[in-house]
Amino acid sequence: MRQPALTTTAAYQALAAHHAETRQRTLRDLFAADNQRFSQLSAGAAGLFLDYSKNRLDGATIKLLADLARERGVERLRDAMFAGEKINITEQRAVLHTALRMPRGNALKVDGQDVNADVHAVLDQIRDFTDRVRSGAWLGHTGKPITDVVNIGIGGSDLGPKMVCLALRSYAHPRLKMHFVSNVDGHDMDAALAQVNAETTLFIVASKTFTTAETMMNAHTARNWFLQHGKEDGLAKHFVAVSTNKEAVGKFGIDTANMFPFWDWVGGRYSVWSAIGLPVALSVGFGYFSDFLAGAHELDQHFRTAPLEKNLPALLALVGFWNRQFEGAASLSIAPYHQDLNRFPAYLQQLDMESNGKRITRSGQPVDTPTCPVVWGECGTNAQHAYFQLLHQGTDMTPIDFIAALRPTHDLEGHHDALLANCFAQSEAFMTGKTELEVRAELAAQGVPGAQIDLLAPHKTFPGNRPSNTILMDVLNPAALGALIALYEHKTFVQGVLWDINSFDQWGVELGKVLAKAIQAELTGEPQPARHDSSTNGLIEMAKAAQEL
Ligand code: F6P
Repeated sequence: MRQPALTTTAAYQALAAHHAETRQRTLRDLFAADNQRFSQLSAGAAGLFLDYSKNRLDGATIKLLADLARERGVERLRDAMFAGEKINITEQRAVLHTALRMPRGNALKVDGQDVNADVHAVLDQIRDFTDRVRSGAWLGHTGKPITDVVNIGIGGSDLGPKMVCLALRSYAHPRLKMHFVSNVDGHDMDAALAQVNAETTLFIVASKTFTTAETMMNAHTARNWFLQHGKEDGLAKHFVAVSTNKEAVGKFGIDTANMFPFWDWVGGRYSVWSAIGLPVALSVGFGYFSDFLAGAHELDQHFRTAPLEKNLPALLALVGFWNRQFEGAASLSIAPYHQDLNRFPAYLQQLDMESNGKRITRSGQPVDTPTCPVVWGECGTNAQHAYFQLLHQGTDMTPIDFIAALRPTHDLEGHHDALLANCFAQSEAFMTGKTELEVRAELAAQGVPGAQIDLLAPHKTFPGNRPSNTILMDVLNPAALGALIALYEHKTFVQGVLWDINSFDQWGVELGKVLAKAIQAELTGEPQPARHDSSTNGLIEMAKAAQEL
């Protein structure tokens, strides 16, 4: 069904009017006027807690945003997604990452095929394989147990398993060291190969399509390296594949008995729950991998059933939409106050920006508002000593998602209190800021002379009124991590529906791929006539000249 342009809808116009009426209110005013704000503008589900009270909005704003979500069909499309309807309209595919974490016995058919049965058959295969590798029953070609796993993949076939393995490092098998090679830059593969031994290394070639240029080049390099260091008939003990493309896997030379399949209804950036999560299951074991899936499933159930006003992913999406659309935030910074979530901002970049970084509606019209903000970030407290200066006093307003666990998975004294103190202090500082009057009073109390106060006061003033969310969990365990990722997946979905975007294709990556292929042929082949603009031709010539050295 063709949606009306976003700004023409009654619900959007009501929100715009509400924004105009309330634009003078500051976060300080809102907190001063209502001491119930924290309890009213926060919610919890699936072991996660979301405090969105430090955004410049109130209950009336949430009601208007939820009205818009209903008018745009969020609930209808959500149900269609869970039911396996082909909501990825440009690729005519169902979008069923939620089926990957559905418990056994929940029949769901897509094109007549029982998806739940297929999913659990592969999970059984993953359990059997990972148990053998972890126990030492799976041996390399010289009879030694596996000590190193090298995952070769890129985008969704890398970012998810890499981020999750790091996040769950406290649960990792002590013998298995995980490596991730994604970049076509040979320095990436070179660094990994320098650390491993062909006798005890397992390579996972992970690619949905099994055609991605970077992954295929890395896979061939790894195979050649193995053949130089191992022996040809040992390949089957050291190479497995994760893919939807059985034929290409066989052609590459991997025994298809050692292939872990998945399906076209799993988007790359939503695939960590599928066999793409094999490195996770190897590292933490099938039991914890199941907990990870269960945590996501619990969040799915919440997303499916909770009213939008109490629905965590919907709230996160609506608040983000408000900040993007009406408050003018062009980017969103992710600040995990947990070192093990170091790769989470990078993971969210693909999830959010590859999903909603688009400017055309589902029916092919240009969108009439800005869409996905730039997502970026780094762990606190490191980020505080790098770019938080700009977030506090720069000219742009950037909302921040603070993410923290109430309890650590280490027992080092004092660190966790210091970490949480910084996390909470930052969101407080962004919200309250410090007025020039307060700065002046503070300096005067310290006995600073008047002329010095005049000089310093503007520099020491913080505008405040800068929005943030805080997401808390008890401890970063597999279930909580599963729920956290699912929270952001569904947030992305809701925002895509609000903008009337198909969040599940990624045509924007195609042009560069095609041009790179052409230039690669020029760099490696015979001299060819200059075919590009003067800049591109000049750069190609420089690279060719360097080859001669
Ligand atoms: O180029 C973008 C992309 O298609 C991503 O969406 C995907 O996660 C990545 O490439 C890797 O794709 P594949 O798993 O097919 O190698």
